[in-house]
Amino acid sequence: MEVCDIRYGAVQVLDRSLAEDIVSAGGTVLLRSGTILHARHLELLLKHGINQVRVEGWSPMSDQLEWKFHEEAPLFSTHYQTVFSSLETLFEEVGRGETPDAEETVKSFDTLVQDALSHQRVYLVLQQIRGHDMYTYRHSIHVGLWCALIARINGYNEEDVLEFGRAGLLHDIGKLRIPKHIIQKKGSLTDEEFAEIKRHPEYGVELLEPKGYSSLILDGTLLHHERLDGSGYPFGRKAKDLPPAARITGVADVYDAVSSDRPYQQRRSPLSALQLIADELYSGRLCGVFGYPFVSHMLKAYVGADVLLSDGRTGHILRIPMEAIESPVILSGTTIINLKDEADLRILDIVEKQ
Ligand SMILES: [Fe+2]
Ligand SMILES: [Fe+2]
Repeated sequence: MEVCDIRYGAVQVLDRSLAEDIVSAGGTVLLRSGTILHARHLELLLKHGINQVRVEGWSPMSDQLEWKFHEEAPLFSTHYQTVFSSLETLFEEVGRGETPDAEETVKSFDTLVQDALSHQRVYLVLQQIRGHDMYTYRHSIHVGLWCALIARINGYNEEDVLEFGRAGLLHDIGKLRIPKHIIQKKGSLTDEEFAEIKRHPEYGVELLEPKGYSSLILDGTLLHHERLDGSGYPFGRKAKDLPPAARITGVADVYDAVSSDRPYQQRRSPLSALQLIADELYSGRLCGVFGYPFVSHMLKAYVGADVLLSDGRTGHILRIPMEAIESPVILSGTTIINLKDEADLRILDIVEKQ
């Protein structure tokens, strides 16, 4: 059980269950112990001047998927669960040293991609899944979905869009060949351990190449940690030697990593994650040709999204300036708030419509 302050840690609290009843100053029970906290609950508590809550663990991912997607894309959570379990089996096989046959997983993943691309709001909701359990599986699925979206935005045909998606799905498969004690190590890594981690792109290709995967998928697996300025690994290749699959998986991988809960790091809000990507594009490490249209697509998608502000007000986003992505203009009731001018006010989170 943990005590969390809602004003500073909404992200820590959403989708977790309350550990005790919450009672208002007047003695009314506002929320019962066991309630899974959603944004509307936080709004209620902040209105009553209640900032601190005691919470238990995250609600299971399957429950989160179910209620977040039931209206938006009713089949999405079923498809997601299918890919998830198929991926679990596949990764276990790799972990046992077997050569994986990913055909079934890829087939079910194609269906998930098609579903996501036809309900693009799914992408916004996807980022609201909380908790870091099963990070590797979720990360693989989400990077695949982001890759497909980036390819779609950049005008690739349907078959290519699916192929970029598959590259994202399989990009980290080589991590399963790295000893568990290194992957799961809590403290900082030694130089040797870090060098071993950096070999996962090559391990991935060793697993996939004999199975006849396309060069696009192999490029994504081998080169997703390369950076256009030569600062990446395993080869330190520069822009002219980096094909589209390297560039697209690079953007998708970083974006998913910073916008998801990871075992030892809390996620950034979606707008803060987009700001980080924009900085990486500007610095020339990630590819602007694929990255800028993606960032601008996502910013447009967030216009109109509901947000919870740090003073308990809710509102929706009217405009997101490219030069200050984390400080959009918000309409709350009849008040227009420009977050650029409000030093003490910030977005706690993008919230799902109820
Ligand atoms: Fe990786
Ligand atoms: Fe990754």
